[in-house]
Amino acid sequence: MSQKFKAIVIDNQNEKFSRDIKELSSDDLKDGNVLVKVDFSSLNYKDAMILKDGGKIVRKFPFVPGIDFAGTVVDSKDQKFKKDDKVILTGFRVGESYFGGFSQFAKVDSNFLIKIPSKLDTKKAMMLGTAGFTALLCSFAVKAKEELLLGTKVNDVLVTGATGGVGSIAVMILSKMGYTVHAVTGKKDKNEYLKNLGAKNIIDRKEFEGESKLLEKGIWDGVVDTVGGSALTKIFAQTKPGGIVAACGNAGGIKINTTVMPFIIRGVKLWGIDSSGSSIKRREFVWNEADKLIDFSKMSTFTNELSFDDLLNTYPKLLKGEYFGRAIVNPYK
Ligand SMILES: NC(=O)c1ccc[n+]([C@@H]2O[C@H](COP(=O)([O-])OP(=O)(O)OC[C@H]3O[C@@H](n4cnc5c(N)ncnc54)[C@H](OP(=O)(O)O)[C@@H]3O)[C@@H](O)[C@H]2O)c1
Repeated sequence: MSQKFKAIVIDNQNEKFSRDIKELSSDDLKDGNVLVKVDFSSLNYKDAMILKDGGKIVRKFPFVPGIDFAGTVVDSKDQKFKKDDKVILTGFRVGESYFGGFSQFAKVDSNFLIKIPSKLDTKKAMMLGTAGFTALLCSFAVKAKEELLLGTKVNDVLVTGATGGVGSIAVMILSKMGYTVHAVTGKKDKNEYLKNLGAKNIIDRKEFEGESKLLEKGIWDGVVDTVGGSALTKIFAQTKPGGIVAACGNAGGIKINTTVMPFIIRGVKLWGIDSSGSSIKRREFVWNEADKLIDFSKMSTFTNELSFDDLLNTYPKLLKGEYFGRAIVNPYK
């Protein structure tokens, strides 16, 4: 028997874009082999672009957005998952090509899901969400310098876009890993917030604008860059020999204008991060490390729980850079 539930549905009929809270039935969920009751989803920059006008990402309408969720398995056609298992989904083009998490129920491919580690729950999982998962991937990429690559110890790590979702969580993780974190921000009033997350030093975003030399003084053992563009060009020139730059974002631009010098003279490594395509093994490893590296009570001070109505009022603020903090979505609120 088909079950009715609420979801956010975007549509684009006769070139008129709409976003509404609608009632759907389980018959509307065509893809996947695991039915999940969504406990929480989260609001990411990509979700905001999709909610605005599809963001040139969603091509099929009507469509249910939401690129991540955590919830409880209701029915599974794959024996890897059974009823009542708690699961996390991030990426795999869910919320872009497949119906996503801004819904009370979602149905996805079992190969996209992982079980929630016993020390987390569905709320904590979405307090992190795609942003937190990406921050974890970036931080472990930096740590690879002293572990996987058996290089010298990591000391000074730079984080750009530090007050953003990925940046804030990266500051917290890297300081917990024992590194000296230097946070780059354009927001002068957020110094205390960044220090409270563990940043030792705050740098004005302006210092990473403009032209850079082929090689500047090497300062950073590792970098988590969420900004891209000219900042990333300067970052390569300032990275110490053997340093790792984990590049995940383009909040400041997509073009980089660099030379081979940092790579062939200093052995600087550019480590691209695509959280959406991470392997299931990598996902399981990283999510299992989360409880050791994240202070959830601190995170709760800058996490807001939104209803579907709140979500539709909030996403434009995120696009304008006027929203601060993490936003989780409770589809039953
Ligand atoms: N590769 C992946 O798997 C992956 C996953 C998630 C997100 N991302 C990308 O990572 C980036 C950050 O995501 P997020 O969720 O943290 O976004 P966010 O919350 O919107 O944060 C972005 C931050 O970047 C800084 N910023 C904004 N505009 C800028 C500009 N013009 N120049 C320099 N800095 C600017 C701001 O921080 P300050 O004011 O503190 O400077 C802002 O808070 C985005 O580009 C997103 O698409 C990638």
